[in-house]
Amino acid sequence: MSRRQILVTSALPYANGPIHLGHLVEYIQTDIFARFQRLRGHRVAYVCADDTHGTAIMIRAQKEGVAPEQLVAAMATSHQRDFAAFGISFDHYGSTHSAASRAACDQIWQALRAANLVVERSVERLYDPVQRTFLADRFVVGECPRCGAKDQYGDNCEACGSTYAATELKHPRSVHSGATPELRPSRQLFVRLEPLQEFLRGWTASGVLQPEVANYLAGHFLHQPLQDWDVSRPAPYFGFEIPDEPGQYWYVWFDAPIGYIGSTAEWCARTGEPLDDWWRNDAGEIVHFLGKDITYFHTLFWPALLKVAGFRLPTRVQIHGFLRVRGEKMSKSRGTFVTAARYLQTLDPAWLRYYYASKLGPRIDDLDFVPDEFVGKVNSDLVGRVVNLASRSARLVEATGLAVRYPDDGGLFARAAALGETIAAAYEACDTKEAMRLCMGLADAANEYVEAKAPWTLKKDPARAGELQDVCTVVLNLFRQIVVYLTPVLPELAAQTGRLLGGAVDRWQQAQEPLVGTPVAPFERMMARVEVAAVQAMFEPEPTTAVAATPTPDPTDPLTREPLAAEIQLADFEKVDLRVVRIVAAEPVPEAKKLLRLQVSLGSGPPRTVFAGIKGAYAPEQLVGRLVVMVANLAPRRMKFGVSEGMVVAAGTDGEVFLLSPDAGARPGQRLH
Ligand code: MSP
Ligand code: ZN
Repeated sequence: MSRRQILVTSALPYANGPIHLGHLVEYIQTDIFARFQRLRGHRVAYVCADDTHGTAIMIRAQKEGVAPEQLVAAMATSHQRDFAAFGISFDHYGSTHSAASRAACDQIWQALRAANLVVERSVERLYDPVQRTFLADRFVVGECPRCGAKDQYGDNCEACGSTYAATELKHPRSVHSGATPELRPSRQLFVRLEPLQEFLRGWTASGVLQPEVANYLAGHFLHQPLQDWDVSRPAPYFGFEIPDEPGQYWYVWFDAPIGYIGSTAEWCARTGEPLDDWWRNDAGEIVHFLGKDITYFHTLFWPALLKVAGFRLPTRVQIHGFLRVRGEKMSKSRGTFVTAARYLQTLDPAWLRYYYASKLGPRIDDLDFVPDEFVGKVNSDLVGRVVNLASRSARLVEATGLAVRYPDDGGLFARAAALGETIAAAYEACDTKEAMRLCMGLADAANEYVEAKAPWTLKKDPARAGELQDVCTVVLNLFRQIVVYLTPVLPELAAQTGRLLGGAVDRWQQAQEPLVGTPVAPFERMMARVEVAAVQAMFEPEPTTAVAATPTPDPTDPLTREPLAAEIQLADFEKVDLRVVRIVAAEPVPEAKKLLRLQVSLGSGPPRTVFAGIKGAYAPEQLVGRLVVMVANLAPRRMKFGVSEGMVVAAGTDGEVFLLSPDAGARPGQRLH
């Protein structure tokens, strides 16, 4: 298999709002594809950026009283934090408001000029006679021409969703002055697309698009002469001023896709890669992922720009449908508009990655977030069928490690190895739904084997220790094989499996050869089950703190003196489940300055993993065996290094740490009250 070179992109999210569950459909789908290709050994550059220009951002910045650049910078941080939490593995994340992006815009603009494709025409535009300025669509408000809703912007109606020209608004007025705008002739720049019509007909039908997309374009756009594309906006506009047209700016959709090149250029500058290897190289591939709402920007305008400027054309445009929640469009008023940050408050990102993977196919159908289905897929597929394979067998061979020779498993491993190329083909086609189905089939076969061999009964009979080791060797190998196939979707699970079996999971080929003779590390819990309530909580409005009337504080009166911290009721305290636990393992987290990863035992049940910021104060070996106090019912929290399932209680200020321990005689599991 020859090594491919693939530039992968996701659409550039607008900088005027936070990342939400709908966006994540796309970034998770793209990330799975990028990780899959890397796992197969191909060269991948996965680039993206914030889409920063346009009137929406300008208006929002104005309302908040900040410069657009400030708003854009704050959004860039928030977007990238969310993407990191969901494991989106960008090689570079840039911004359309960058020097590299502007340079690419200039280059493409010059090519359009040289090809004589830029024309200037006068169009009637709305003009504010008081402010003496032309009004961009977003600076005109009035009644929607379709449904009559009041106070709608000049480009689309938030009440009925229709789009129209600003000149169609009823009773229009300028947001600057309130004056009624006049129609005045304005010079505008257009890109002629008609000369590229034949080229676009050929390219859209060449197999780079999904068939339904190609048909849609042929039937809706390409059967008649393509209209000129209006690419300039008069000042004031947050964007790039057109170099040879002072006072005119490129329309946001002109520079947005060029941001793919700008971001790649920044990555190249960082890594020393030549940009032309990625954008002017016919041997390389370019795969764009995007949602169906922005199809024609990427399948008509964008290839036209690339063609004229001599860049290579995308080899594939992969379009997905829209996320709905319980069958309806996401909506703020119904509470179904869920941000990434909100999801992360109660849920594990790996769950969403798996859930989307199990629902996404190669077509552009919409997909539905159904809470019960989410819970079912996580708890019964992921935890019940896959992760359980490891949790039921790993501890039984912790002492012996894997058998030195791979035992007879009735052909299970070989059959799953042979399925590797079929699963790979499903990933390649973005049919992750099919890939997940095949993986779950393998998990079923492995679970049947476990049931039939019942290692927990073998465990009781010392005479059958060899058999026990063989059975667990088979189970852990079948588990690892499935994990290899799931790695693009669940990179964290792959990392945990690597730690368990003493070798990173990082190549697709690893599913072809069983592991033998290696030690098995102490089992760390891999994934928790999801609680229905945690999913429901995500759709509820964020809790706000109630403000109660306060009497005048009197330091001598326990009922009115100022508390050291916010007061709580007894019932609040009783919600906190404090337990005595024994630290059974402790190790530093190498990537974190302060953290130790602890395994704590509650006396019964599997040990829990807790991250504690006590590295500077305690050496790991001082801690093993010690009894401490833990908040046992803290909702599991996803951290960069794994899931923390509780909190160890300590006192201290300014870097001092004193762990709290019970008096002698206390036992793990005892509750504090
Ligand atoms: N800024 C443009 C893209 C420019 S690309 C050169 C844009 N931004 S966006 O923030 O609105 O959307 C970013 C991506 O997320 C788009 O591909 C869009 O289709 C996708 N999604 C936004 N909302 C979505 C859902 N509710 N469901 C699925 N995908 C969604 O468009
Ligand atoms: Zn309307």
